[in-house]
Amino acid sequence: MKNLAIFASGSGSNAENIIRYFAEKPGFRVKKVYCNVPDAYVLERAKKYNVPTQVFNRAEFRNPDIILRQLQEEGTDFIILAGFLWLVPPCITNAYPNRIVNIHPALLPAYGGKGMYGHHVHEAVLAAGEKESGITIHYVNEHYDSGDIIFQATCPVLPDDTPDTLAARVHELEYAHFPRVIEEAALQTPA
Ligand code: GAR
Repeated sequence: MKNLAIFASGSGSNAENIIRYFAEKPGFRVKKVYCNVPDAYVLERAKKYNVPTQVFNRAEFRNPDIILRQLQEEGTDFIILAGFLWLVPPCITNAYPNRIVNIHPALLPAYGGKGMYGHHVHEAVLAAGEKESGITIHYVNEHYDSGDIIFQATCPVLPDDTPDTLAARVHELEYAHFPRVIEEAALQTPA
């Protein structure tokens, strides 16, 4: 059994898509959704599927005796960042090498780093006049958006795109690819 933990900060449409995908997969269980924003909609989505949730603050995240210990006590094998906006502390990246993945809504290494999340990314891509954007799924280290890239997929940027229309196209790529890439990466980890 591969036990998965999802970290999210916002709406959680990716988190919901991942929960639905693994609900049908023997050998995988989404154990918990961890969230740093007490009123984030992802918490409602998780409850709909009876996935336990936990809200935490920055001090709890950085304290190895709290969130890291809980992950270990829950038998977490693999961690997924799905629209999660805080840097992961070294106590957790060190305990889960090549066992944490993030999705980024652009083609890294472009348009990544601190402050580059959600609509900020799409605004920057449009302002630069890019003809193409996409998604990057990568391993997570203690720096923003800089771990080894596992998978990328591209989509066009259209002349009349707004941040919202581009975000919708990128979200479709995320829904199509992220669960399968998680599955493959999680299966590569030793038991
Ligand atoms: C997703 O597009 C994800 O790629 C992005 O936030 C969105 C969350 O949407 N993540 C980042 O920008 C991380 N730097 P969701 O809450 O509906 O899944």
